Amino acid sequence: MGAFILAIDQGTTGTTVALMDDRGELRASVTTEFPQYYPQPGWVEHDVGEIWQTVLRGIRAILRKKLCRPADIAAIGITNQRETALLWDRKNGEALNRAVVWQCRRTTGFCETLKAAGHEKMIRRKTGLVLDPYFSAAKFRWLLQNTPRIKARLAAGRVAAGTIDSYLIWQLSGGAAHVTDISNASRTSLMNLSRCSWDRELMALFEIPEGILPDIVPSSAILAHTTGIPGLPDGIPIAGVAGDQQAALFGQACFSTGDAKCTFGTGSFILMNTGSELLQSRSGLLTTAAWQLGEKGKPVYALEGGAFVCGAAVQWLRDGLQIIKTAADVEALAASVADSGGVEFVPALTGLGAPHWAPDARGTLSGLTRGTGRGHIARATLEAMALQNADILFAMESDLDKRMRPLRVDGGAAANDLLMQIQANVLGRKLIRPRVIETTVAGACYLAGLGVGLWQKQSDIRAIWQASQEFTVAMSPAARRQRQASWQAALARTLL
Ligand code: G3P
Repeated sequence: MGAFILAIDQGTTGTTVALMDDRGELRASVTTEFPQYYPQPGWVEHDVGEIWQTVLRGIRAILRKKLCRPADIAAIGITNQRETALLWDRKNGEALNRAVVWQCRRTTGFCETLKAAGHEKMIRRKTGLVLDPYFSAAKFRWLLQNTPRIKARLAAGRVAAGTIDSYLIWQLSGGAAHVTDISNASRTSLMNLSRCSWDRELMALFEIPEGILPDIVPSSAILAHTTGIPGLPDGIPIAGVAGDQQAALFGQACFSTGDAKCTFGTGSFILMNTGSELLQSRSGLLTTAAWQLGEKGKPVYALEGGAFVCGAAVQWLRDGLQIIKTAADVEALAASVADSGGVEFVPALTGLGAPHWAPDARGTLSGLTRGTGRGHIARATLEAMALQNADILFAMESDLDKRMRPLRVDGGAAANDLLMQIQANVLGRKLIRPRVIETTVAGACYLAGLGVGLWQKQSDIRAIWQASQEFTVAMSPAARRQRQASWQAALARTLL
């Protein structure tokens, strides 16, 4: 067997293809950004043909580095932006429409109708999710109602529906496999969380016809084989699949009940492993499937809270306000001032997620004075990223009725020391940053490696994971309370 794992991390704004060796070292990684489409305020779309090209380009770029022979790749692991919904043609793989991205708010009206009709409780009980346009079911419904010539295609049995993982496996296997893993399926609002199967009542409610959804499979097992991918031999097992946040939980080796991580990506997501327990939140958090290892493995669950805009706020400073040239510039700009000077930025650019669930909320920038400069806005942005996470973590602690273990942090922005210090300060909790902060990619590799037996058990992965730095609290409780009060007042204005 080869000794390398190829991982594909298909994220919201870019696709990363990476190579890991059997000692758990990430040997190379290539990220390609792709266009975002905003056809109306609050709408977000992706062209999946463009996404697929970034995957092929990434594979080519990794192979060109000649770190291994293609034949040495033992398995492929996939991780992906979750909830993003698409339809494609089973006959030729053609996407039937642009994908409706997880951040897209176009189904707000339909979700309101379901709420008014009293369906939220049942949805929550069966899926662990709130009723919000974030999840895939209403997006599939929108696509089925707004895609040209869909009726004829449905009648001919040509329509396949799925999230990004499903589409990538379909493409990589030359159309042989139409599957999704339980972590991704749990984000659709169509999967019964305790049975881990599609739920007829939910399918009827969201008007999803029989036969268009993928089969639900474990997150680590041989699920399909490569067929016809340029540069790769046919027959490489696709052996690991998980939504990016669940993959990051796995990549952080959060294998024990109570272990939690926060990933700073386009959005930021805190997940806590709850083992075999389906813990229902009383505080606006979600219950979700974390992973299933092997056909015989039991589903592992997690409690989750996500803020929709985290790194995306920095991208907005770069592309929208144009006050920084690159995303990394935000750290120096924010460090150029001692505090935000009273400026509060609530980055509700695509509504607010957990624990507020306000799809119609829009961002606010307040507390501006004649003395406000770029530095204050940059600082307010980093503080907002941290304060949103604090709201989620406090909600989690209130659900559990106890303080959590130190939080493991990862994702691109976790490299920002100032942000990590602000995060520890506003949380009043210690953070642990691992040596490898690309834990999403690492998680996909570990799942795939376990799937083909490159690693035998989770303790082999635990032995690979290493902490690199801790961030301890450097803010007085009084200062934290004051900072929190100002943030909560700004949030209240946003939620008006
Ligand atoms: O639920 C959405 C999430 O999976 C997107 O993750 O890393 O692209 O922000 P990311």
